[in-house]
Amino acid sequence: MGISVDLPYFPRTGLLEDVAKVYESGLKQGVTLFAPRRHGKTSFVKHELLPFAAETLGWQTIYIDLWARRDVPDLALVEALEAELEKRQSGWRRKLKLAKIKTRAKTPVADVESTMVPVGFEAEDALENRLAHALAAVVDGKPTLLVLDEVQALAGVKRENFVAAFRTALQKLAGTLFVFYTGSSRDGLNQMFRIQRAPLFESAMALPLPALGNDFVDDRLAFLADRSRARVSRKALRDAFVALGGTPEYLNELVLTLLIANDGNVVKALDSWQAAREKAGAHIALEGLRPLDHAVLALLAEPKHPSVYGADGLGFMSKRMAGQVVKASSVQGAMRKLAKRGLVAPTGRTGEYEIEDPVLLLQLRADAKTRD
Ligand SMILES: Nc1ncnc2c1ncn2[C@@H]1O[C@H](COP(=O)(O)OP(=O)(O)O)[C@@H](O)[C@H]1O
Ligand SMILES: [Mg+2]
Repeated sequence: MGISVDLPYFPRTGLLEDVAKVYESGLKQGVTLFAPRRHGKTSFVKHELLPFAAETLGWQTIYIDLWARRDVPDLALVEALEAELEKRQSGWRRKLKLAKIKTRAKTPVADVESTMVPVGFEAEDALENRLAHALAAVVDGKPTLLVLDEVQALAGVKRENFVAAFRTALQKLAGTLFVFYTGSSRDGLNQMFRIQRAPLFESAMALPLPALGNDFVDDRLAFLADRSRARVSRKALRDAFVALGGTPEYLNELVLTLLIANDGNVVKALDSWQAAREKAGAHIALEGLRPLDHAVLALLAEPKHPSVYGADGLGFMSKRMAGQVVKASSVQGAMRKLAKRGLVAPTGRTGEYEIEDPVLLLQLRADAKTRD
């Protein structure tokens, strides 16, 4: 929404310790951290995990964002590792050459870069071989943490053996190489778990991202109090955080909205935050949906709603559609369409879906209120 100032990071109590325990135990080579987008996975990695691994443990660290190149995640993974390798090797060569230059003296330093030979990779090498080679060469016997951010992108890999080859390469480096996977798309993950690619995660321990709660809200309040005279109700801001689905990014934006407005009215700020999002095209478009689709969404937006396929759920939807009879089979069709548009996501329990995006939830709940 145009506000790109980052508010201070708020630590995820206990998570880092839990991750460290898994690696220390030697029982699992990897840790998976799955949570919806914008909930703070990357922030945790960058603010806590990577510095801890590099500075406290003295490990090598490699961070690869697979989301950025989700169209070719396999190539992205291999190229990132090769780039890392090249960076290290050229660093080496540069040091060697600089040492030589210093003894010989007077060669302009600019020449050093231009005379560097890039590390060559045979173009015809199978991607699987390049992967195994680059991974082993990067690790090079040193304790290493490899972070694969948004790993579900690998579910889209078209090469049959790629993920299996990756797993084999990882296993060979067990004890030296540790992996941290983050993921958010449930659909992608379900897919990865369902198909033969699941074994990738057998060697990994799933840890939950601890939810941020009132202490996080209170920390934001203290941040506000330091910078603004506006009086902000603690309860109102805590309620807003719940309404925002516990999404730290949105609470940060709300806090900035309060700060800029220099007005402590949380409800007003929530409205202008939403309006700003809509203007920025970040609201969720529901155009082109049929009444049944809307009814399904309305039901899913209800807190503690009954099953969409049960009598209560069908009754709720029928009421929303002026008494029209709703069949479970039509609901199924509507659900598929909504999932395709990314409006609902499977929960992991067969046939069950939910609205994952807090903004959509907020929108739908606001709609429900104006209807009542
Ligand atoms: N622990 C945290 N403390 C403060 N802000 C956070 C925290 N985690 C996330 N955020 C906010 O949410 C935004 C999105 O977080 P991010 O780590 O990118 O989420 P994800 O990787 O899960 O999609 C961050 O830019 C930051 O503003
Ligand atoms: Mg992220």
